[in-house]
Amino acid sequence: MSYRLFLLASFFLCQLAFSSSIPHLCNKDESISLVTFKKSLTIDPSASADCDYSGQPYYGKISSWNMSRDCCSWDGVICDEITGHVVELDLNCSQLVGNIDSNSSLFQLSRLQRLNHSRNTFSNSHISPLFGRLSSLTHLDLSYTSLSGQIPSEISHLSKLQSLHLLNYDIQLGPHNFKILLQNLTQLRLLDLRLVNISSTIPPKFSSHLTTLRLGDTDLYGIIPERIFHLSNLKELDLSYNDHPSGYFPTTKWNSTASIEELYLSQVDFSGSFLPESIGYLTFLRYVMLNSCNLSGKIPKSLWDLTRLEHLDLKDNLLEGSIPLFTSGLQNLSYLRLLNNLLNGVIPSWKFSLPSLSKLDLKDNHFCGQLEDFRYNSVLTHIDLGHNQLQGYLSESIQKLVNLASIHLEHNQFQGPLPKSLQNLVNLTWLDLSSNNFSGNVDVSIFSNLKQLFLLELSHNSISLTNENNVNSTLPESVESLGLSGCEIRELDFLRSAKQLSYLDLSNNKIQGRIPDFALSNWMNSMSNLNLSHNMLTSSNQIHLLPLLDIDLQSNFLQGPLPIPPPSVQLFFMSKNNLTGEIPSSFCNLTLLESRIRIVRN
Ligand SMILES: *[C@@H]1O[C@H](CO)[C@@H](O)[C@H](O)[C@H]1NC(C)=O
Ligand SMILES: *[C@@H]1O[C@H](CO)[C@@H](O)[C@H](O)[C@H]1NC(C)=O
Ligand SMILES: *[C@@H]1O[C@H](CO)[C@@H](O)[C@H](O)[C@H]1NC(C)=O
Ligand SMILES: *[C@@H]1O[C@H](CO)[C@@H](O)[C@H](O)[C@H]1NC(C)=O
Ligand SMILES: *[C@@H]1O[C@H](CO)[C@@H](O)[C@H](O)[C@H]1NC(C)=O
Ligand SMILES: *[C@@H]1O[C@H](CO)[C@@H](O)[C@H](O)[C@H]1NC(C)=O
Ligand SMILES: *[C@@H]1O[C@H](CO)[C@@H](O)[C@H](O)[C@H]1NC(C)=O
Ligand SMILES: *[C@@H]1O[C@H](CO)[C@@H](O)[C@H](O)[C@H]1NC(C)=O
Ligand SMILES: *[C@@H]1O[C@H](CO)[C@@H](O)[C@H](O)[C@H]1NC(C)=O
Ligand SMILES: *[C@@H]1O[C@H](CO)[C@@H](O)[C@H](O)[C@H]1NC(C)=O
Ligand SMILES: *[C@@H]1O[C@H](CO)[C@@H](O)[C@H](O)[C@H]1NC(C)=O
Ligand SMILES: *[C@@H]1O[C@H](CO)[C@@H](O)[C@H](O)[C@H]1NC(C)=O
Repeated sequence: MSYRLFLLASFFLCQLAFSSSIPHLCNKDESISLVTFKKSLTIDPSASADCDYSGQPYYGKISSWNMSRDCCSWDGVICDEITGHVVELDLNCSQLVGNIDSNSSLFQLSRLQRLNHSRNTFSNSHISPLFGRLSSLTHLDLSYTSLSGQIPSEISHLSKLQSLHLLNYDIQLGPHNFKILLQNLTQLRLLDLRLVNISSTIPPKFSSHLTTLRLGDTDLYGIIPERIFHLSNLKELDLSYNDHPSGYFPTTKWNSTASIEELYLSQVDFSGSFLPESIGYLTFLRYVMLNSCNLSGKIPKSLWDLTRLEHLDLKDNLLEGSIPLFTSGLQNLSYLRLLNNLLNGVIPSWKFSLPSLSKLDLKDNHFCGQLEDFRYNSVLTHIDLGHNQLQGYLSESIQKLVNLASIHLEHNQFQGPLPKSLQNLVNLTWLDLSSNNFSGNVDVSIFSNLKQLFLLELSHNSISLTNENNVNSTLPESVESLGLSGCEIRELDFLRSAKQLSYLDLSNNKIQGRIPDFALSNWMNSMSNLNLSHNMLTSSNQIHLLPLLDIDLQSNFLQGPLPIPPPSVQLFFMSKNNLTGEIPSSFCNLTLLESRIRIVRN
């Protein structure tokens, strides 16, 4: 070759090399393995449907894999910058369907350090023992992949693993493999085995590096070793929904070096155990789920002083005692649920003025006394104080809770007039004041501007519902559930614009004559539960035109033959009227009707 020709050839070679802007790094064998892997799978959007809920972006990443480009530039493939080996495969939410058998070319990618297959559908596969050969793996995520069967012991060969996600339904680990896994994977920071059937006690030995331990709903049994609560690096502990383990909290002193932020222990049985004051040492706590734990005793005072706490759920326990009148903490608390305990005393006013609190649920306790005036709070959206023994007036200052969306005060002993300022709470969707001693006239106009209102319950008080502007002030169209039993109601004009009602209780009122035609046409598509019992109706009009499930027209003055209910009906109460004639034979065609038909004493 002449010198000239050599120059020319070099020139063309350079042209060729620079024509593709990305340098060729990819190892040929590895790109072949990847393409073979691609061919063993298909793409189906429904395979990653749950990515929708999780908010992850998703698309069929592998469809762009193409031999004409360097494999290190393929979507989801990451290579080591120096060696060019494929070290990471991130195929989460990639709409993949298929099997990962032991002959899968995936296992030829022996330099893989990170593998994320989560949220694809490998329904017919087990976890292959060959995963144990990917010995460089530091991160393995096979969660939500519909993999099933036994998790192979070979997973414990992956001694470099720092995070392991195997959350799946219908997959088993077993006590032996669980123990080895915990013993051998000494580098583990994160272990997520939620939903895996482990069927084991909790071994006492753990990697001291663990920061996240998720063992919720894994059929664990036995006693929770106290040591677990002392792991000094542990930030998140989830042992919830294991019906069998019984626990006790460190009774002496919680380790003040513990850095737990999230504690999920729902439905773990702590019978006879109580929360120690030393929980106050856990100053990093943000999330506490201790619902349905059979916890007794008092709520430790120190818990109320935690400053980082965001979420506290102690629902369904046997906790007693009162809530302190002052707190120095809880600046970040946004969710407080103490529903269904034995708590008593007054509800301190700080409850309503915590700067971050948006949901407060103290239902089903023994709280008593009066509520103090409310202070301005723009974050509180939900208050549930139902089924307690609260008394006194409900202050007009409730309007200072400007973003309230739901108020539950049912089954207490509140008295006096309803605060008119309720009309300013324009975000209200739910207002339940039933079964109290509220009294006086309530004009329907106070509800007309609540355009989001879904449920209104004022039954079982001593209220008279008035409608002074008559036709021009009616309930908002949004109302679907309305309870106004015993509210001295005589006419139904205030319902003219409520066109989506499906549950309506107007029992024990003074409604005369017939159900108005406008009501029938309003309710034509929506009404399912209608209670007009204990009124003075003489005609039920054409109720058979409504899609009703339950009809109660007892104790009216209905005359003539028995009205025929619609075919959808399940409960039909007609006793104590003035009906005459025979029961029509078409009743035998009402197949959904339960046996509770009552037509007696007519
Ligand atoms: C999951 O994949 C999507 C693309 O489908 C990507 O944007 C995202 O970073 C990946 N998430 C994680 C946590 O790896
Ligand atoms: C591969 O990529 C090249 C360039 O992006 C494109 O022209 C070609 O059609 C692709 N081939 C396949 C099979 O997708
Ligand atoms: C894998 O991707 C999912 C998103 O689908 C993400 O939540 C998870 O943290 C990722 N796993 C790892 C180990 O990065
Ligand atoms: C793996 O082996 C199974 C049979 O054991 C076969 O059906 C499948 O096609 C093989 N897959 C690959 C990628 O060779
Ligand atoms: C546990 O680790 C040891 C040492 O690394 C290794 O010899 C053994 O095979 C591992 N056991 C299992 C079941 O992986
Ligand atoms: C979990 O596995 C054990 C032992 O294999 C079995 O007895 C039990 O029924 C399994 N539990 C569930 C919920 O599948
Ligand atoms: C508390 O944690 C420290 C540091 O991790 C440890 O040395 C000590 O033994 C622990 N104390 C208890 C009671 O577990
Ligand atoms: C709470 O205690 C009762 C009675 O001892 C028991 O039946 C129930 O299963 C326990 N609850 C939990 C979550 O363990
Ligand atoms: C309450 O309604 C106002 C205006 O109607 C709106 O700007 C605000 O975001 C709502 N608040 C909530 C919590 O929905
Ligand atoms: C209702 O409003 C209409 C116009 O919007 C008005 O003409 C009528 O007088 C009002 N009726 C009552 C009872 O206020
Ligand atoms: C019952 O109906 C009869 C006629 O059918 C009427 O004479 C009587 O006054 C009615 N009784 C009541 C309480 O409405
Ligand atoms: C009952 O239903 C059958 C079949 O739908 C119908 O033929 C019959 O006329 C109905 N009987 C009455 C009394 O409505």
